[in-house]
Amino acid sequence: MRTIRIALLGAGTVGGGVLSLLRENAELLQVQTDCRFEVRHVVVRDPAKPRAVPVPPELITTDAENAVRDPEVDIVIEVMGGLEPPHSLIRHALQAGKSVITANKMVMAIAGDELIRLATTHRADLLYEASVAGSLPILTLLQGALAGNRIERAVGIVNSTTNFILTRMEQALAMGVAAEQAYSEALAQAQSLGYAEADPSSDVEGYDAQYKMAILARLAFLQYVPLESVYREGIAHLSGRDLVWARRLGYGIKLIGTAERLSDGRLNVRVHPTLLPLEHPLYGLRDANSGIWLQGNGFRELFLHGFAAGARPTASAILGDLILAARNLRMGIAGTTPQPSLQPGETAPIEAISFRYYVRTVGTSEEPLKAVREALAEWLPECQPVEQIPEGYEQVCLTALAPESLFQAHLAPLRQHPDIRQLQVIRFLS
Ligand code: NAP
Ligand code: HSE
Repeated sequence: MRTIRIALLGAGTVGGGVLSLLRENAELLQVQTDCRFEVRHVVVRDPAKPRAVPVPPELITTDAENAVRDPEVDIVIEVMGGLEPPHSLIRHALQAGKSVITANKMVMAIAGDELIRLATTHRADLLYEASVAGSLPILTLLQGALAGNRIERAVGIVNSTTNFILTRMEQALAMGVAAEQAYSEALAQAQSLGYAEADPSSDVEGYDAQYKMAILARLAFLQYVPLESVYREGIAHLSGRDLVWARRLGYGIKLIGTAERLSDGRLNVRVHPTLLPLEHPLYGLRDANSGIWLQGNGFRELFLHGFAAGARPTASAILGDLILAARNLRMGIAGTTPQPSLQPGETAPIEAISFRYYVRTVGTSEEPLKAVREALAEWLPECQPVEQIPEGYEQVCLTALAPESLFQAHLAPLRQHPDIRQLQVIRFLS
């Protein structure tokens, strides 16, 4: 029986999950692959750090380059996070002909095209299922069972931390807890549960979802998707008032990623807070659950959802990749796992899309609220009665469908208005 030797780069939340599942499921892995697995190196930054999952001290090292270059190592699992050193380490591993498994969406979104080419050149496997929506096998599906479809649209919640925060904020607000307190407590909990990124601004500012949507769109639409073409907005600027208003009006707010082919052939990919009807299946995803709703010209619709972050769900995806990589090594076909043949194609900015909008204005008096209603007049706003709140006078209006470019142009001067304290715009699901 062949022994597969692994260098594990990182032993934090995900690395710990990988070590746990490797131990717990050792027998199963052997049955699945006819291989034995041996972890040769566990790379960390601080060897003295206490670890939730024990690591034999003789395996721990801070020398990642040495671990990657060890000729005995067959597979490198990168779960460090950040662009560098992971990008260089993955490159070196592939150049040495080693199979690489990574959960790193930042690297795969920014440098994925280059790394995929490198893997092909060096006939090495580069597998990254865990980089998008943790345990949900979305990338495998797109490259396998659904690959015979023309994908038309992918819409989903791809960041668990923000879903966890928004769910907890809604619950806390209903119990009269202040929004700021609910936000910071939920974020702290998401961090302690291992859902959040090492720098959680990546979650709450939408970068994590932006990376994931770029990777997902690349495989769904077989087109190069430059990261900068993916529109990004996070949830940090949302107020508790928005969640309260949304609920009152029969909606909920989620951070939604969308990738869709427009009628002119261009691809639009975007991430932003979105109002959804309370009965929408994506709204039904609570806490750290994620979900992706796909439409394609053969299967029509498919909704994949589940627990997509944290140690074990992420490790589950990594083990799936590990089994594939090990089988390929055993059969001498590493590097033959199909990689997408991408086409150049145009991407469209968010300005090319039309949305219905929620507009919440807080003014020092009722006068500036009138100016907002006038700016929205073209899109037949349905406005709620003005309410007096501690910050001033507040009004919420919902518009009919409006082209983003024109809509934002109408609102732009009002963002400088001296008597407007808040002007919050949230798009409806289109
Ligand atoms: P984490 O808990 O911060 O763990 C990172 C690990 O990498 C730690 O063991 C750290 O060492 C080590 N490390 C970081 N930089 C290093 C360096 N320069 N040299 C040596 N070791 C280094 O992060 P995580 O949550 O496990 O996430 C890891 C990766 O998986 C990220 O790319 C993340 O985006 C991705 N991911 C995470 C999840 C999730 O739910 N957490 C889900 C899917 C994908 P120390 O322990 O000594 O600090
Ligand atoms: N921080 C990420 C999230 C981890 O919350 O979705 C899973 O990729």
